[in-house]
Amino acid sequence: MHDASQGGVEELLAAAKAAQANSYSPYSRFPVGAAIRTGSGRVFTGANYENAAYPQGVCAEGSAIGAMVTAGERVIVEVLTVADGEHLTTCCGGCRQKLREFATPDVPVHAAGPEGVRRTFTLGELLPEAFGPEQLDR
Ligand code: THU
Repeated sequence: MHDASQGGVEELLAAAKAAQANSYSPYSRFPVGAAIRTGSGRVFTGANYENAAYPQGVCAEGSAIGAMVTAGERVIVEVLTVADGEHLTTCCGGCRQKLREFATPDVPVHAAGPEGVRRTFTLGELLPEAFGPEQLDR
């Protein structure tokens, strides 16, 4: 957990890169880091951690959401993921849905490479017409 003393996307990038460095990804060899800023200004991070039983692996975003929920936070206002390689890495479909539980469609989701942010989407662009807590009147 990082304090939100500086704020901004650079803080999220640094936090996500620090998490990425702790990724446990011996099977894919594709380390990913995620940083989530909450409504209170705190930043929670996560790294992907894989499993010999492949489907049991957890994405960086899910890992960060777990840290956030465990700390008692429920409101996501900004997200950044970082991965290596030349291709743009965006959140997988399952993580888009997991983010939607705690983030509204206007929330920015930055997709970064090691050098910085490559593209910024809104969650609504990544998961249009999403099913969310509102459908259950929650
Ligand atoms: N992965 C993430 O952690 N987040 C993403 O946004 C894309 C994919 C992970 C899952 C798996 O451990 C590895 O990257 C390769 O798919």
